[in-house]
Amino acid sequence: MSSSLAEATLARPKREPAFPVAAVRARFPALKQAAPFIYFDNAAGAQAPKIVLDAVARHLLEFNVQRGGRYPQSVEVDRVIVAAREKVAAFLNAADPNEVAFGMNATSFIRLVSLAIGQTLSPERNELIVTDLDHHADISTWQELRKTGATLSWWRMRDDHRLHVEDLIPLLSERTRLVACTVVSHALGSRVDVAAVAKAAHAVGAELFLDCVHFGPHAPIDVRAWDCDYLVCSGYKAFAPHMGFLWGKYAVLDRLPTFREEFIPDAPPHKIEAGTFIYENVAGMAAAVDYVEALGAELDPDAATPRARILAAMTGIEAYERDLSRAMLAALGSAGATVYGVSDPDQVHLRVPTFSFNLPGVDPAEVVERMAAADIGIRDGHMYAPRLMERLGLALDKGCVRASLVHYNDLSEVERFAEALRAVAAAA
Ligand SMILES: Cc1ncc(COP(=O)(O)O)c(C=O)c1O
Repeated sequence: MSSSLAEATLARPKREPAFPVAAVRARFPALKQAAPFIYFDNAAGAQAPKIVLDAVARHLLEFNVQRGGRYPQSVEVDRVIVAAREKVAAFLNAADPNEVAFGMNATSFIRLVSLAIGQTLSPERNELIVTDLDHHADISTWQELRKTGATLSWWRMRDDHRLHVEDLIPLLSERTRLVACTVVSHALGSRVDVAAVAKAAHAVGAELFLDCVHFGPHAPIDVRAWDCDYLVCSGYKAFAPHMGFLWGKYAVLDRLPTFREEFIPDAPPHKIEAGTFIYENVAGMAAAVDYVEALGAELDPDAATPRARILAAMTGIEAYERDLSRAMLAALGSAGATVYGVSDPDQVHLRVPTFSFNLPGVDPAEVVERMAAADIGIRDGHMYAPRLMERLGLALDKGCVRASLVHYNDLSEVERFAEALRAVAAAA
């Protein structure tokens, strides 16, 4: 081959394989078991693949003991935890597995970090910035710090239902201690340019706390590229059992004042993990990363490292979910729904397939009940985002309807959703 032909061959983009959604679905036993039920409430918790179910069951059967013992089962628990940290570190692109701490859920980690940050406030640097797009878990605990001298500013979303970094910049000053924001809205699906947020926050010496709970299942996380300081995820939104994990830059976690018993090392991750966490669910989280890696190996057989396979999987998921988003926007439009968040089908790169909407003249609860009768699981209410409901002009006791998809959902399910929703709208 001539060198110019070789270059042209190298330069040619690889042909994107079609997303193997049928094979993906076959790996999630719950989907088959519940059929014809459609899981469109994934933002509240996703289903787990068989490899995760097996890992949890195996852990409970073979290693259901406390770690730190000298007998084989206990040694294995320690090994599982170390391996899980390595896998989650690859999932996040963390520099060091010891930057990953395991625990109960995202809310308790946000609380833990906020209590620690509260102890580091000074009269010169006591300002916190929160957003009106966030889940209340990433607002209320920061608000609580006002009792101990913090002041709070609101980074408000624009009328396009997105946060714009240009609006954050005037709020930042050398008094800003921390910005807390989401990576993507769990209610509207709007994405945030978190790398730009980090740059702006760091320019004034502030830290960035990211709520990555809703983003976790949708696209690649890269804590190094984003250059955030803290990031929290819930395993149960990302195909693992109920558990959560916190990541922080090692030096940042190292200087964080946290509660621990005096015999626990004052170093990450142990200083963040007081008490026993749920080891079988940590084993399940590690298996969820294995699931992602296996998908990545199928999508890109040349991906040679765990991180490369994770990246291949999550990039493939992200691209496939854009198709789902376009189909959902068409479905919602066909039923006459009012969609909150990015609704231009040419702008789906700015969102994930999480859709909050209302049908004119129909109570959200009624929409959801009727859809449940049609074997479709969606959710109504305030989505744990009272500030956001207020911004959208929605009553807290009614809120909106949310349909939230992940990569195991498919276009035939969107079609059934569209038909059922049109029937609800027509009956109104
Ligand atoms: C964006 C977001 N942040 C935080 C939380 C709270 O997570 P957890 O249930 O793990 O405490 C949720 C849960 O729905 C969420 O969607």
